[in-house]
Amino acid sequence: MKCVPYVYDWIWQDNFEKEKYYHKYLIEKELEDDPIGRKISNIGGYQTKDNLNHREEYKKLVEIIEQQSIQIHQELELIPEVKFTIINMWGNINWSGHHNSLHQHTNPPSEDRISSSSVISGIYYLQLPESSGKTGFMKHKVNYSNLSMEPSMVKIPEIFLKNYNNKLLKSNYEYEAQEGDLLMFFSDVLHYVSPSNIENNRRITISFNLGLELNK
Ligand SMILES: [Fe+2]
Repeated sequence: MKCVPYVYDWIWQDNFEKEKYYHKYLIEKELEDDPIGRKISNIGGYQTKDNLNHREEYKKLVEIIEQQSIQIHQELELIPEVKFTIINMWGNINWSGHHNSLHQHTNPPSEDRISSSSVISGIYYLQLPESSGKTGFMKHKVNYSNLSMEPSMVKIPEIFLKNYNNKLLKSNYEYEAQEGDLLMFFSDVLHYVSPSNIENNRRITISFNLGLELNK
């Protein structure tokens, strides 16, 4: 019998190695030009303003992301009259000890957000020194419209398991990202970034949300 994995939801991945150098430079420049940025899920670290998708320097990245989203559009069997477009995009820099708490992007708490109807979210990994934080995805989604009900879950007692590395004990999946990776996932998937242990170095990524709009 073949095991068909589905519990991690869908995560789309591709790699854009060549483009990472230019975008890494851009995010480092954001830090110089606007050292305060904004604070959302980051514990320590730095996040840029979330309007990078409207800036000329990021036009190429916007094109790459929207080009990739065509495949997702097809796989989700959406009607041709709609397309994915970027709602917001921002850069992240984490130094040693910094991390991002568990969150989801269905309602990004941004002051200048254009829309809250994010469907797909993503991460572009620009610089990942050894021992930098990993992106963890939770297996189970929380349905906030039904908070009064506890989710019903299968629980096998730990003493029935051969060892404590058993996948059943893990409620999350930590993605082993490579520099240049572009990940996309449903915006309601709960995720986090674990603390970095990178003395004198920095972990740099760009995050974004995609919404659906009618073709013009
Ligand atoms: Fe996130």
